[in-house]
Formats: sequence, structure tokens, C-alpha cells
Amino acid sequence: MSRVALVLPAVDRPDATTPTPLGRLTVPGRAIPEKTVWVDPTEIGRLRDAARDVATRAHAPYSRFRVGAALIMADDPQRRAITGANVENASYGGTICAERTALTQAASLGFRKLELLVVSCVATLDAPVADRSPCGLCRQVIHEFGNRDPETLVVVDGGGAGALGDVFDLDRLLPYGFSLGQS
Ligand code: THU
Repeated sequence: MSRVALVLPAVDRPDATTPTPLGRLTVPGRAIPEKTVWVDPTEIGRLRDAARDVATRAHAPYSRFRVGAALIMADDPQRRAITGANVENASYGGTICAERTALTQAASLGFRKLELLVVSCVATLDAPVADRSPCGLCRQVIHEFGNRDPETLVVVDGGGAGALGDVFDLDRLLPYGFSLGQS
């Protein structure tokens, strides 16, 4: 299938500043120009299927909530689908989400530029997007490997009949993501 143009709408929210006796309090605004990116629905579908498949191998005996992720790294010449499932632990805190399992595998293979990640929370495909999209910790790890060219996209599987998924670029996935002075 050929690529389709996907518009990432502009965000234009000014700062809101309130003076206080101890100094200004600012609610930071956001100014993101509209951007058009090109996506291949077949590739998204292929990653979606891989994410659903790897979710069947999740180790989730505590939550019973299986998640799969599949991604392509821009700096992988083979553009292979790298997958991961959530792996829980009896200590709970030792749990790693599907997105981070896939991303740590990609980084361990030597890749650093995330192009496209599809995550599938297979039990909540019809639920509101917040019930099937990456947690805050995963968003920060995605941000670590995120890029502008090509624009990193995260697709969240689901959304009801006829839907391929919900798409987030980096700015929408994690506004003000932490950078160690490199942004
Ligand atoms: N989980 C993921 O793997 N990815 C998500 O996007 C949401 C949550 C996992 C973590 C835990 O094993 C289970 O789902 C319940 O939170």
C-alpha cells in the first residue's frame, strides 16, 4: 500500500503568567507548527499484528493485563520489526512494560533512532485511549530515542470498528519530556 499524508495539527497555546508576592508563576504554553508526515498503513498494520502476537507471550501473572509493542528503528537498514511484551515481577516494581522491553531490545541491537512504535493493550482495544496508551515512564524512554526526521510516531492500537489506531508524535506523547541539556 502506498503512503498516506497524516497531518499533525498545530498547537498554539500562550504562556499564562500570574504575578505573586514571591515572583511570577507561569503555566508554560506550547507552540508547535502544523506538520504533515507520510505513513504507510500496511507497515502500521504489520506492526500492529506483531504487537498483538507478542502480547500473547507477556509474563503478566499479577495484573493479567497483556501488552505487546512492535517498532521500527530509522537507523536499522533492515527495518526489522522489533517486538516486546510486558514482563512482570513478584516484586511488582521489577515489572517492565512492553514498550520498554521492545526499545531496550532495539537499543541493545545498536539502534538509537525510533521511527514508529505500535503498542497493543489487547484487552482494552475498545476502551478510551488513556486505557491503552503508554505509561509516563515509557513515554520518557520513547522520548530518549525520539527524532524529528523522520518524526517519531507512536500508534496506539484500537479505537473501535474501522480504526487503525491513535497516533501521537513526540510533542503530543510527552510535552516537556526531560532532556539532559541536549534539546
Ligand atoms: N503495561 C504495559 O506493558 N504497557 C502499557 O502501555 C501499559 C501498562 C503493563 C505493565 C503491567 O505489566 C501491566 O501492563 C498492568 O499495568
